[in-house]
Amino acid sequence: MSISTAEQDFAAALKSIARNPDIKSRLLQSPELHRILSRAARRFTAGDRREPAVGTAAALAGRGYAVSLEHIGENTGSEPECELAVQEFSRLIDACVKQGLNSRISLDLSHIGLSLDRGLALRNLTALAEKASAAGLQLFVSMEEAAKTSSILDVYREAAERSANLGITLQAQLPRSLGDLTLLKDAPGAVRIVKGAYQEPEGVSIPRSGQLDARYLELVGLALEQGKQTSIATHDRNLIREADARGYVRHPLAELEMLYGIVPESARDWKESGVSTLIYVTYGEEWYLYLCHRIAEHPPNLYDAVTDMIRGGSSVLEAY
Ligand code: FDA
Repeated sequence: MSISTAEQDFAAALKSIARNPDIKSRLLQSPELHRILSRAARRFTAGDRREPAVGTAAALAGRGYAVSLEHIGENTGSEPECELAVQEFSRLIDACVKQGLNSRISLDLSHIGLSLDRGLALRNLTALAEKASAAGLQLFVSMEEAAKTSSILDVYREAAERSANLGITLQAQLPRSLGDLTLLKDAPGAVRIVKGAYQEPEGVSIPRSGQLDARYLELVGLALEQGKQTSIATHDRNLIREADARGYVRHPLAELEMLYGIVPESARDWKESGVSTLIYVTYGEEWYLYLCHRIAEHPPNLYDAVTDMIRGGSSVLEAY
């Protein structure tokens, strides 16, 4: 489905103000406003705390989905805060083991130290990968703004040489991703292909278009050809249908991965048609940017957001 020029302008404006720390702190420092906005976030996240998120993931697993869990956060500004983030991921792994939940764990490298020091991020990623591996879980690295792509890939490659249970996300909107995937040919690890959520400076990324969809399919095809476990991470119905027509979606190495709260009926249909379908569940207090991205991707979500703010947030679990 294409979006109008007004919606595109709205999305670009929302994505850019979402990154403005002054606007964020002005909005969130009021307890009342914080409470109201957090209601809107509940449609896309499983809450602030780990236990309900693991409960949501377990409920989805009980309905036949595979699951991924992320404690949301990025650009952590100090070593002690990075340590806290690592502890949280470590407890998340423990909670999955306790629950008997074979969840994938996903994280942003800047959440565990990349914004401070490459070595810190590598140490933390390696430690978490080892812990996840001992628990039989896979750990996926998300992709952040284009300015960080090289350092994320660099840390990922080094960690993936040591741990076989890692995966990396590549953004189809970045023209460089084709070359990056080619370079990962002989590296161990899985890949997740996404369109890309970040508003990049002009000329850096391919806008939502037929050209982007073609690049997306090219990346998925190449990853499968390389023999990589490949996550087709999108909600775009036409794109998924085209990927299915090309034999990608039901390929033994492929899976479909969607964010919790987005097009649950489509996730259910694919799962029921026998496709390995994974739901990506997020939790944590840093939901602000995540919420802005989900509204920007699909501006009509603003209607639900306003309704949720007024009437109280709603859980979408039942829709799965
Ligand atoms: P697109 O945005 O073109 O939307 C196509 C259609 O899908 C829309 O017309 C609408 O019908 C539906 N849709 C899409 N988003 C919706 C929404 N929010 N609400 C309701 N309907 C919606 N990005 C990134 O930069 N780095 C990362 O690491 C990740 N990780 C990641 C993991 C997983 C599992 C997923 C599914 C996505 C990501 N993303 C991401 C986000 C990704 O880059 C992208 O921004 C979103 O998936 C939205 O793009 P679509 O491919 O869905 O298509």
